[in-house]
Amino acid sequence: MANFKLLLALAAIAVVAHGATTTHLQFYMHDTVTASAGNPATTERVVRGPTPVPGNPINRFGDMYVIDDPLTGGPDAASRAVGRAQGFYLFASRSADQLLLSANMVFTAGKHNGSSIAVLARDAILDEVRELPVVGGSGGFRGASGYGLLRTHTFNASNNNAVLKVDMYLSV
Ligand SMILES: *[C@@H]1O[C@H](CO)[C@@H](O)[C@H](O)[C@H]1NC(C)=O
Ligand SMILES: *[C@@H]1O[C@H](CO)[C@@H](O)[C@H](O)[C@H]1NC(C)=O
Repeated sequence: MANFKLLLALAAIAVVAHGATTTHLQFYMHDTVTASAGNPATTERVVRGPTPVPGNPINRFGDMYVIDDPLTGGPDAASRAVGRAQGFYLFASRSADQLLLSANMVFTAGKHNGSSIAVLARDAILDEVRELPVVGGSGGFRGASGYGLLRTHTFNASNNNAVLKVDMYLSV
């Protein structure tokens, strides 16, 4: 018992010594390619690539989409707004649906309002879980490191609109 308490105390000291606190953030990203009534597009294709991607009737190798996607606390687009994902994704594989995702997650509400997290990721969009390497942050997240996990919550193949679930694990 005493040893167990000692171990716990040492573990606590180790965490403090590194000065790191891990913050877990969960939010949803609404990637709207096709506008509908009262629901504008948040994503637009800005570059058209030359070569079809096998199995993908819509996108080509080299297609680039600029994004300004709303981030919300829940999966419903009408749930609490927490920020925007601003950047781009690029179809970066000649043979599969694999993207380069480069974006800032900019927070516009709550205790992280004004702070942002920069991610640079390989997004294999058909995988259940994709990892988002965090390359830095600003404001309260200055010098942040860590990673995120990206999951497709819903995808509508008729209009290509997606809701993505993001879990970020940050050391600041
Ligand atoms: C976020 O911060 C900005 C700038 O300080 C402020 O104008 C805005 O009202 C804040 N938003 C929320 C939801 O607190
Ligand atoms: C999927 O997209 C189609 C075409 O825009 C639309 O009619 C349909 O309601 C959408 N489905 C869902 C579940 O949102």
